[in-house]
Order: sequence, then structure tokens, then C-alpha cells
Amino acid sequence: MRVLLIGSGGREHALAWKINQSKQLEKLFIATGNGGTANLATNIDLDVTKHEQVIKFCQTEKINLIIIGPEVPLVAGITDDLQKAGFNVFGPTKAAAQLEGSKAFTKALCDEMNIPTAAYAKFDEEVFALEFAKTQQFPLVIKADGLAAGKGVTIASKFEDAEKAIKDCFSGIFGKAGAEVVIEEFLEGEELSIFAICDGKNYITLASAQDHKRAYDGDKGPNTGGMGAYSPAPLLDENLLKRIEHEIIAPTIKGMAKRGMPFSGVLFAGLMVKDSAPYLIEHNARFGDPECQVLMMRLKSDILDLLMASAKGDISNIKLDWRDEAALTVVLAAKGYPASYKKGSLIKIDQANNENIQIFHAGTILEGEKILANGGRVLNVTALGKNVEQAQKSAYEAILNIEWEDSFYRSDIGWRAIDKSKI
Ligand code: AMP
Ligand code: GLY
Repeated sequence: MRVLLIGSGGREHALAWKINQSKQLEKLFIATGNGGTANLATNIDLDVTKHEQVIKFCQTEKINLIIIGPEVPLVAGITDDLQKAGFNVFGPTKAAAQLEGSKAFTKALCDEMNIPTAAYAKFDEEVFALEFAKTQQFPLVIKADGLAAGKGVTIASKFEDAEKAIKDCFSGIFGKAGAEVVIEEFLEGEELSIFAICDGKNYITLASAQDHKRAYDGDKGPNTGGMGAYSPAPLLDENLLKRIEHEIIAPTIKGMAKRGMPFSGVLFAGLMVKDSAPYLIEHNARFGDPECQVLMMRLKSDILDLLMASAKGDISNIKLDWRDEAALTVVLAAKGYPASYKKGSLIKIDQANNENIQIFHAGTILEGEKILANGGRVLNVTALGKNVEQAQKSAYEAILNIEWEDSFYRSDIGWRAIDKSKI
């Protein structure tokens, strides 16, 4: 099989690593990839916003399957254009990617399909949003409707914070994404992510995984794309999984099909669990990053079988095998992230990859033999262990073999899972 993978983060390095293990793989290209993917595939400098250019490349290279990693090309409709040109694409169409691209769209689907979620109201005018916020209890959650790279959500503890967030959205700091604002009830509980591979009608849930969104230890500091993750998430037991499938995943798939926009690709449901009941916080239309890294470490089955079946619209014959071990990944980020940070500093990695340790690259580039930092989240040190605690120990030991002055990382990834296992 000749495969094109689109993206350049740690998620895509982990996917590329897993794809590379498939006996079916003949050739893997990545647009644009990073310093890590360069060692296992051919990085290519395609402009993925130019769909014609991507189609031409796929025709020339006789690509059999295209896998879309990030949300931005999905929401821009790359799947639709590639499918129209006759290609198999893993990832939802533009209409189906609205599940991630518009919070108001997803909220309306929740209403229609009775999916449990926070109570909400949506506004396209600042004055009405402010008037509404004044009458609400705090904390209150303010969200830009569209894609805002993880920065569009504010948990306001008092009216003044809500006022600032609402004004920020309508002032255009998120561009078109903030033209509509969703205001919702604050849900207390514990967060959990569920990933399901879909084909428009059916779904298969993957092993559980959980990330840490805040920048600093103790889950403090600003929100980021994710500073680490682990799998499995001990919060998820069989009963809770059944409820999530029955109350959230299945009605989402059914509701999307009913709207004439069947969802295929990965459905990534961000949930809040309160008193054993799941509530949907948000849907994403792609793998989580860094959750994907721990899932790929644990997946035993051939990933190309799975992704191709989804692309072709029938996953009903797919069965997945997982390793019993736990996996944990720690993100090494550039000092300053998620605010401003420097690029170009030198990284020395004196840690070999092996069956139990993989260093996935995110924001790196190669300059000759040298690895240079080239982004906010830069390396994902990922380990397998007999439980989350052992995986954590191995990941932090491996980090000691990396020299990179400009970095910081959290020292407590997995703490909730480890605390739980001690109870
Ligand atoms: P989102 O981009 O919608 O996932 O929101 C980012 C983060 O904000 C989530 O991972 C939660 O930690 C938090 N969050 C979003 N909505 C709510 C809510 N209604 N109640 C509590 N926390 C929320
Ligand atoms: N780690 C959270 C996300 O990928 O959105």
C-alpha cells in the first residue's frame, strides 16, 4: 500500500511509526513531517491548503490511502476534494468535521439526539452575550464557536472574566472562529477522552487514554495542546464505557447519518464524568495529540487494516488487539510555551528507541545530523510499563538521556492514574 500521511506533530510521528510496522506498507510519504518522521518515511513539502497540489501528488505517486492527522485540513474540506478525485481518505468530510469545527453545531446535535452535555446558550451579538452572562452562576464557561487552537475556551470565575472573554471573542482575536460565542454551564468532575474509529454507520472504541492539558505540575497554569498522556485511564470501567457508547458515541454517529453527513474517521469525545455519569464537553474529529502516541504504543493490530476499512466505509469486520501494558508519554516543550518561545536550539538525544521506549518528535527539524527545536511541543518521550507507574518511571528515566537546555516538562504526568491505583 502507498500511503500519504498529512501532519507534522508528535501524533503523526506516532502514526508513521505504527504504519511502518504494517506488512502491507510499500511506501509512506508525510506532508510535511518533522525531524523524527524523516527517519522512517519520506517527508515532503506539500502545501496542504492547496488541495489541487495534494491531488496531483497522490496521482503521480499512485497513493492508495491518505490519512489526515490535524483538524485544520479536515475542517477546510480536504477529504471531500480527495474523495472526489477518487482516493481513499481516512478522516471526515467538511460537513462531518463540523463536530469539531463548530461548538454550536455539536450542541444542536446534542439537543436533537438527547446527548448529555452542559446547558448552554449561543450568541452572535456581544450585548446579548453580556446580558446573559450577568444572570448566570459562576464559574461559567465561555467558548469561541470555531477552531481556536485550544485557546478559545475560558473558565470565568466571576463576571469580569466572562466579560473580558466575550469581548475578546467579538473583537476578532480568534478571527471568524469567535463570531459566534457559546456560553455554558461549568461541569464539575473528572475528564476522560474516548476515541472511536467510525465508518459512517459503525464505530469501534479504542483503548482509553487521558491527557494533561495544563502547562505545569498539579494541573496548574495555562491550557496547552497537552503536556503528556497515559493509557489506560483507570476511570473507565466497563459500565462507564457502555454508558458512553450508548449515550454519546452511538447517538452522535446516528445523528450525523440522519443529517446526511455520515461521520467517518476518528471521533474523539472529550468528556466530564460526574457521579459515574458521562457528559460531552466537546467532540474532535481526529486523534488527540499526545493521546495518539500512547494508543499507538499499545495497539497490536495492523493500523492500515483499520484506517483503510474506515476510509472504504466498512469497519464491521475489524477486531483490535491491545497490549496489556500501560503507556505514558511526557511532552518536552520549549521554555515559554504555550506563550512565546525560541526556535532553533540544539537537542542531543542519547537514548535509543526500543520496544519499550519511543521518542516521538513533534516540533523538530533536522539540519544535517543535528536535531533542532522548531515548535512549542517538541519531543514526546513515550514508554510502556506493566502499569502506569512503571511506564512513568521509564519515561522519566529516558528523559535524563536527552540534552536540551531550552526545555521544560511536567514531572507528574499520570498522577491521577497512579493515585487511583494506590487506593
Ligand atoms: P474544549 O476545548 O471545549 O475541550 O475545552 C477545553 C477545556 O476546558 C476542557 O478540556 C475542560 O477542561 C474545560 N471545559 C470546557 N468546557 C467545560 C465545561 N462545560 N465545564 C467544565 N470544564 C470545561
Ligand atoms: N490533547 C488534546 C487534543 O489533541 O486536542
